[in-house]
Amino acid sequence: MCTALRQPHSGRRCRQNSRPRSCWNGRRSCWDAVLLWPGRRRHNGDGPAEIRRQNPHAGQPLRRHDRTFVKIFQPLGIETILTDLHDLDHVEDLVKHDPSIRLLYFETPANPTLACVDMTALASIAKRHDRLSAVDNTFATPYLQQPLRFGVDYIVHSTTKFLNGHGNSIAGALVTPHTAQMKMGGSIWQAMKLAGTNCSPWEAWLVHNGLKTLAVRMDRHCDNAMRIASFLRNDKNVERVNYCGLPSHPDHAIAKRQMRAFGGMLSFELAGGLEAGVKFMNRIKFCTLAPTLGDVDTLILHPASMSHLNIPKEVRLANGITDGLIRLSVGIEHVDDIIGDLEQAIG
Ligand SMILES: Cc1ncc(COP(=O)(O)O)c(C=O)c1O
Repeated sequence: MCTALRQPHSGRRCRQNSRPRSCWNGRRSCWDAVLLWPGRRRHNGDGPAEIRRQNPHAGQPLRRHDRTFVKIFQPLGIETILTDLHDLDHVEDLVKHDPSIRLLYFETPANPTLACVDMTALASIAKRHDRLSAVDNTFATPYLQQPLRFGVDYIVHSTTKFLNGHGNSIAGALVTPHTAQMKMGGSIWQAMKLAGTNCSPWEAWLVHNGLKTLAVRMDRHCDNAMRIASFLRNDKNVERVNYCGLPSHPDHAIAKRQMRAFGGMLSFELAGGLEAGVKFMNRIKFCTLAPTLGDVDTLILHPASMSHLNIPKEVRLANGITDGLIRLSVGIEHVDDIIGDLEQAIG
């Protein structure tokens, strides 16, 4: 039995009932990144501090619709600006000319397009201009990608996902070589003590248990994902497969430089848009419909009818989240069982 909170159906008709709690109850990794952030002070006491977040399909910004940025960051005086972090010259230009920017914040591989960015280049830009960098390493895990090696200052993980691996705990982790901030009296230690971001012993025990099998699980996640990506590529009803392990993925070269293997996350575009997406989701039998990820069980999400239901369509599209996009968190089951289910659901 899958322990992730299962969403019974996809599509608008089940909107009221379909908001699974797992969508909302975590967020600790994001909170840590904000609350523990030492550069939250306003620059020179006036302009707002700024965080830039990866938006590989830069277009209409998602920022007004991202609850963490709007509900949490903004009241703290942290302005978030989205820009295309593939365009390194542009990023450097922005940082050079805007002293209020304090942090470059990115996700690689990114949700849900699996876009990857060059961590060495971004961390170097930050260092050259005396700024800091942070990465969300949740998709990759430290087994597949170790951002400190590339000069990144802070790494955040939702340990709820692959690190725990079994969908039974909620927690987050912050990793940094700036150890003075972590020690008693340091800024991170203070924030943890005052804001209470520590997880409970029970959650910690569950994550610790999960970590013992991280390597073997990740190897299997990666093998299964590669097999599934190859299968999907050859299906005539699938228009595009986003898996950074495929040589056809636009960021494959970056991923190859930074990652040991390519992880268990992928997404694909079904021909037929929203209708095809909803139909596909409602035919799924073996895999589990859920907005979380990183479990031993295969989890499927159709952002247009589930996680991104309330985002205006034009904003969704401008950010690469198309009507027929399906996100797959590939589990460690026998790969033939997963492929069989996808095949019958694609029809
Ligand atoms: C890449 C990534 N990081 C962080 C999070 C937040 O996870 P949590 O809600 O467990 O803090 C998510 C949630 O889906 C995610 O996809």
